[in-house]
Amino acid sequence: MLIPKKIEKMLNEHLSYELGAIYRYLAVASWCDKEGLDGCAAFFYKQSDEEKLHFQKFFQYINEVGGHALVPELKQPKATFSSVLEACELSLDGENKVTKSIYKIVETARNEGDHATEEFLKFFVDEQKEEEVLFKKIIDRIKLIGKGAQSMYYIDKEMEKFATAKPANSTAK
Ligand code: FEO
Repeated sequence: MLIPKKIEKMLNEHLSYELGAIYRYLAVASWCDKEGLDGCAAFFYKQSDEEKLHFQKFFQYINEVGGHALVPELKQPKATFSSVLEACELSLDGENKVTKSIYKIVETARNEGDHATEEFLKFFVDEQKEEEVLFKKIIDRIKLIGKGAQSMYYIDKEMEKFATAKPANSTAK
């Protein structure tokens, strides 16, 4: 056993945040698809793919360091949204919660002298910062475009740009 039981438990609890993010982004992507927002759908499908990589990294790490990774039980995420802005604000809120959970594990790992886990989490600390900055940027852009009749067209075009700008395997390190 390489990691303390306490850390194993926290990492297993954190799995529900990463799986929750996969679910959330898939649900948003599906809603965008139904609304004919192809650029937004592409962006959120890509987000969901990234979260799958995150989930997998955590999952495999737990077993790698002598723990037992457990598949979390989750309920169905919110499926409809009043606007892309609402979906993005909920996404940012979700990312804030993921960050808090990661910070808590970093602190505990530090206190327990679990350097392996602290090192493992460095990538995720950076990743969360990027995610939060990105969603803030998107929210600002959507607000700037405003609510006029043509706004959905421009928002969708912007989201398409954000989807293309994102490296496909940014998390596959
Ligand atoms: Fe992997 Fe963005 O939480």
